[in-house]
Amino acid sequence: MSIDLAKAVGHQSPDRPVAWNQRDLILYAVGIGAKKDDFSLIYELDKSWAPFPTYPVVLGLKGDDQDVNLFSERASSRSTPGLPNFDPNRVVHGSQTVEILKPLPAASGPGWKLKSRISAVHENKSGIIIETESTLVDSHGTPYAKLFSAAFNLGSKATGQKFSKVIASAPQASKPIPKDRQPDWVVRDQTTPEQAITYRLSGDYNPLHIDPKIGKAGGFGGVILHGLSTFGFGARALLSAIGGNDPNAMKFYGCRFTAPVKPGDELETRAWEIGKGPGGTVEVGFECKNLTTGKVVLGGGVAYIKKVEKSKL
Ligand SMILES: *[C@@H]1O[C@H](CO)[C@@H](O)[C@H](O)[C@H]1NC(C)=O
Ligand SMILES: *[C@@H]1O[C@H](CO)[C@@H](O)[C@H](O)[C@H]1NC(C)=O
Repeated sequence: MSIDLAKAVGHQSPDRPVAWNQRDLILYAVGIGAKKDDFSLIYELDKSWAPFPTYPVVLGLKGDDQDVNLFSERASSRSTPGLPNFDPNRVVHGSQTVEILKPLPAASGPGWKLKSRISAVHENKSGIIIETESTLVDSHGTPYAKLFSAAFNLGSKATGQKFSKVIASAPQASKPIPKDRQPDWVVRDQTTPEQAITYRLSGDYNPLHIDPKIGKAGGFGGVILHGLSTFGFGARALLSAIGGNDPNAMKFYGCRFTAPVKPGDELETRAWEIGKGPGGTVEVGFECKNLTTGKVVLGGGVAYIKKVEKSKL
């Protein structure tokens, strides 16, 4: 098959059936570090409980499975017209966004799908970046969430020339994080040594996140935490600090993955109100650091959240 990056842009993958239930949502909340008092995230009988807004990001790998899946099969790239073959061991998750269009039901029931297409392709000296736009729809085709995710295929090459074609992209921050003022919110949180063990039960069974031998061979010095678990830690931090821990307060959340996190690392999320978001939300810029090394692990973050003023009792 001939390589032509422009041809891949707009390519639609077959629709992916997806499904979840309340137990899946609670398991996800625990995988992103929900604590025993976070009833709005973990306790289905509490009146504040609702599906966590970033849950749809797991569905691409989970699909409609009720049991573990085989990661090597799940991740094996279907051939896409125009793209070279990529080395599955040299793909990194570059960025992820999720926009909540309608609150998710507590259980999907049958007929839900992820509809995906390649929304952008870029090539530079470091490799090829594939961006995918996915829409989560119910059995009537009603959209509930829109996701953008970028996969960076390190070291891969089409022509070796700079290339970029974009037909759709995620909302961008209206301005960068202010360098000249302290964050409006700072949240510290501790991942546990078992964090990746719990997170993988949401559908990403990549052995890299449980078997230290694989992480060592990959140059990570052992097991690393799923980027999407860290992603969820950031979302929980913002929701608790800004949105009164109400899962329905978050309308958009996204960031770049800038460095690995190890299970057990302590994280610090720093957030700045940078403007007005759509629909009565505020626009928040954020980043998340490994507290001990000071390394930024989630960068260029932006979120739209309905701000809940803390009542002064
Ligand atoms: C290629 O693009 C990626 C992702 O935007 C970026 O991180 C990287 O620095 C770029 N490499 C070069 C050589 O421009
Ligand atoms: C985060 O910081 C801790 C403490 O220095 C360190 O042990 C750990 O390796 C760091 N994590 C990563 C992925 O660099």
